[in-house]
Amino acid sequence: MSHSAAPTDERLSRHEFLTLLHERLRPRTYLEVGVSTGRSLALSSVPRVGVDPAYRIETELEGDVTLARTTSDEYFATTDPKDRLGGPVELAFIDGMHVFEYALRDFVNVEKHCRWSSVVVFDDMLPRNVDEAARDRHTLAWTGDVFWVAEVLRRYRPDLTVLPVDTVPTGVVVVLGADPSSTVLQDHYQEILDQYVHDDPQPVPDAILRRQDAWDARTLIRRPVWGLLHRGDRPWRRRERGLAEIQEALHQPDDYRRRRRAAREKAQHVVRNVRAGRVRPGTTPVAPAETPADTAQSLLAATTQAGLEAPRRIALLARGRRPALAREIRALRPGIKVVQVDARARAADVRLALASAGRLDAVVDLTPDRDGRAARARELLPHVRKGGVLVLPDAAGGDGVDVRTIPTLARVGVHGTHLWLRACHNAAEVESFFAERGFEVLFPEDYPIAEQAQLFRFARDVAGFGGSAMFNVAFATEPARVCLISAETYSPQNEAMIAAANGHRLTMVWCHADVPHGSGTGVDSRMHTPFTFDFDREGAFLKRVLDEPLPA
Ligand SMILES: C[S@@+](CC[C@H](N)C(=O)[O-])C[C@H]1O[C@@H](n2cnc3c(N)ncnc32)[C@H](O)[C@@H]1O
Repeated sequence: MSHSAAPTDERLSRHEFLTLLHERLRPRTYLEVGVSTGRSLALSSVPRVGVDPAYRIETELEGDVTLARTTSDEYFATTDPKDRLGGPVELAFIDGMHVFEYALRDFVNVEKHCRWSSVVVFDDMLPRNVDEAARDRHTLAWTGDVFWVAEVLRRYRPDLTVLPVDTVPTGVVVVLGADPSSTVLQDHYQEILDQYVHDDPQPVPDAILRRQDAWDARTLIRRPVWGLLHRGDRPWRRRERGLAEIQEALHQPDDYRRRRRAAREKAQHVVRNVRAGRVRPGTTPVAPAETPADTAQSLLAATTQAGLEAPRRIALLARGRRPALAREIRALRPGIKVVQVDARARAADVRLALASAGRLDAVVDLTPDRDGRAARARELLPHVRKGGVLVLPDAAGGDGVDVRTIPTLARVGVHGTHLWLRACHNAAEVESFFAERGFEVLFPEDYPIAEQAQLFRFARDVAGFGGSAMFNVAFATEPARVCLISAETYSPQNEAMIAAANGHRLTMVWCHADVPHGSGTGVDSRMHTPFTFDFDREGAFLKRVLDEPLPA
């Protein structure tokens, strides 16, 4: 496949390409091996680290820059760049010693500090002639033999996406899909050197000299992959799914855009529906109150407004006890039980105190811990009864609180992934089948984790595809039915465990797998194989499962 369309004089230089990459990817951290005068380092303004034993900065560098005057091998042996950057490297530029094994080691070292969504760019990967590619430099313009790194990555790390880019003068290679836990390159280091270190003149493959597989830089920059990688820092985004999305965003950009647009619209639609029918608007601000009596009054007024007429049992989660507030609440609602839970206790003790309080009508979180709001919502949710309310610190950061009714979706259908990874080829048809039966079909990963938990919390009936965030049924603790549609090669141990713990009735609907039992190159290919739901073979069974009345 060739993506190189631009005539020579219109091609981007490496620095122009990097400039656009910074704009599109918006990395939060940057690392550079080989700084020289600082020209490429100056293209970034986020926290960054530059390593070079002989840099001589001639460019103004603004912001949070750390320079290490040492070789990259020495630097990585003694330093963790994440300490300076405050997190993983999101964009790396490897442009140090232009000899194959140095660049390979630079990649091995850099990858350890990446996440799957990081981008690693190598400079000088497309030499124009054999002289330029010599290990032993004898020309003015010099790439060295670093181009072999791309060959090695393709052969030893097929999980990575290696993209040569037609920049002037000497091309770059972009590597996507890093795996910081991989040791393949280290484990085969000597074997790789034995094969790829050649005496000069280098046998540079013709395809490299002709830039046969190189992307036109502008085309690559316009692919919708950079936003996807930018969002890769979200903890619920997994590498497996990310790798599949990278492929789609690069090679079927229109499909990718359509799918994202549809998922966004669907999510908005579901949220609107949920809000209109079952969830009161998220926020009922409670004015800051001077006295415990005022606080009690405004809290109870807010819970009434959120649909909870007469709470009988509520928990107050606060740093320390609030006896005066509890007294005032009891005075306003005689007979109400107020359980006080000290948020300063260990998390396990907080959970135990809430669990032993029984099913609660409301849990009021009075801790000022706004950062932990989503985590807190997820923790508290299981203790609130159906139709109850959760009172959380104000998301807007004011002095009030948010009062939210717990949504009660009865039937949740889970979208297929639409990607090669455990994708159901005819997912849309199966989803319509769910929708006709009153399931709200949604894609959990479109929601923050606390909302995912909330959406599944009271679902009595969940149906979806293996590999599409169906583990959310862990949050479905009402006695529920779970129907999992999957390739017949999938092994549903986790779903079975969750079903046993939560008391679900789990029904598996097995489908034809693209990679059948006993074939494929390993467990992964069988576990993750796409599959087809055969309406002739399994349709009647699925209908019977979904149409059967739920146990009371
Ligand atoms: C081509 S220049 C870098 C240019 C710079 N990235 C830019 O685009 O503006 C290569 C640099 O790599 C540095 N270098 C050489 N060996 C190195 C090593 N082992 N580790 C890190 N940097 C090295 C050299 O000192 C030189 O300044």
